[in-house]
Amino acid sequence: MKSLDSVIISGREVLPLIEGGKGIAVSDGKSSGAWATANAVGTFSGVTPDYYDENGNFIAEFYKKKIRKERHQEMIEQATSGCISQAKIAHDVSGGKGRIHINVLWEMGGCEDILINTLENTKGLIHGVSCGAGMPYKLASICSSYGVYYYPIVSSARAFKALWKRSYSKHSEYLGGVVYEDPWNAGGHNGLSNSENPLVPQDPYPRVVELRKIMRTAGLDNTPIIMAGGVWNLSEWEDWIGNPDIGAVAFQLGTRPILTRESPVAEHWKNRLLTLEKNDVLLQRFSPTGFYSSAIKNDFLSMLEARTQRQAAFKEEKSEEFSEEIRIGLSKTGYISAEDKLKTTEWIKKGYSEALATPDCTVVFVSKEEVREFKASQVKCIGCLSQCSFSSWSQYSENYSSGKTPDPRSFCIHDTLMSMSHGGDLNTGLMFAGHNAYRFATDSLYTNGYIPTVQELIDNLLIGK
Ligand SMILES: Cc1cc2nc3c(=O)[nH]c(=O)nc-3n(C[C@H](O)[C@H](O)[C@H](O)COP(=O)(O)O)c2cc1C
Ligand code: SF4
Repeated sequence: MKSLDSVIISGREVLPLIEGGKGIAVSDGKSSGAWATANAVGTFSGVTPDYYDENGNFIAEFYKKKIRKERHQEMIEQATSGCISQAKIAHDVSGGKGRIHINVLWEMGGCEDILINTLENTKGLIHGVSCGAGMPYKLASICSSYGVYYYPIVSSARAFKALWKRSYSKHSEYLGGVVYEDPWNAGGHNGLSNSENPLVPQDPYPRVVELRKIMRTAGLDNTPIIMAGGVWNLSEWEDWIGNPDIGAVAFQLGTRPILTRESPVAEHWKNRLLTLEKNDVLLQRFSPTGFYSSAIKNDFLSMLEARTQRQAAFKEEKSEEFSEEIRIGLSKTGYISAEDKLKTTEWIKKGYSEALATPDCTVVFVSKEEVREFKASQVKCIGCLSQCSFSSWSQYSENYSSGKTPDPRSFCIHDTLMSMSHGGDLNTGLMFAGHNAYRFATDSLYTNGYIPTVQELIDNLLIGK
């Protein structure tokens, strides 16, 4: 195994190893502090993180306001407090070693406010900000104004080119690195474009060489590229190390760090990771963000898949093809084809008696219980995203609604991620994971269910394991 050259990340020479930020509360102050202690880079998640008061007491999120837009404001305030407390924890744990980053999603609700208020109140504690999910043009000016390095997460050279041209070229001093996240392999939300086939993965190597070419034309010869997605053993990436076509490189891992002692996720989630088999992770598009994402198959994902199957195209006007009348929601009527009518009869017999419209001129058939659950989730929506297909929330429009029909094929990602990271049921929650997660079961580091410390994981990575 080639020795790994250290890299300058966020102003300090550190190991080229980065803990990927993981929301909600899957990477936090403690885990990121441990990565930094090992002279690497730890990243805590800035997505509604857990808040601890000055006495170290955990304060669960709570919402008092009746109106959604006011709850959105409460969410911004609580998330900011959470970010500040996690930054302090990370700093204390790290003892000033390594680097501490925060991860935010550009399309999370109130991202700009949360980031600005956090950086304002954590001077010297946070050294870098990684940010994906969307096109974070403003990231550069925000971070530069606080003297903090920024790390856009992209899945193509083209995306970086657009960010550079419009914004980052004006703030190049604080561009700390560019994360290339392989959209076919990485856990969490994935940046597949409309022209890319989720079923046909593309080799990251030529895509990263292309990214480096674009970066060189911008004078970014020495700015590190951070490879994320599918990184397991570094011996498998030896060709990338010291490779002039790639240039300075670091590696970001998201899935492997979940199975460390410092990782905040509950034991039953960690144990589940040890039993995964190949193809137990599914790339799908149920997230209310509209992005693809990769998560462990379970009853929850099967339920979403089955619900999407119980779908039929409908028209508001009767026609030769759309000849069969159905009731949609409480009061609307529509027309579906005779062929679909036969299917719906079967669905109704199984208890899926309610037809709900989607934004794509289709209806899905769900149970009465599910209708009640949707309503309850939508009523307590806190606007955790900038736009949400499940609740039609939009922070951009004057009346805080996208004006689209709420999509019953999706779900409240805030509830599911929050409950999962706080000890929730493995069958009903959402567990993001990368497509290599099945390797936990056979990797000798985890023999007999052994869970390493962050330091042990890093020691193994350094020798190529
Ligand atoms: C449970 C989980 C949650 C994640 N959440 C986020 C997130 O909130 N923001 C983000 O930028 N990336 C997120 N990611 C992606 C990771 O930061 C990392 O880039 C990715 O997992 C790397 O690929 P790997 O899973 O193959 O190691 C998440 C990944 C996982 C597994
Ligand atoms: S419905 Fe849930 S996921 Fe969607 S914006 Fe509201 S809180 Fe977030």
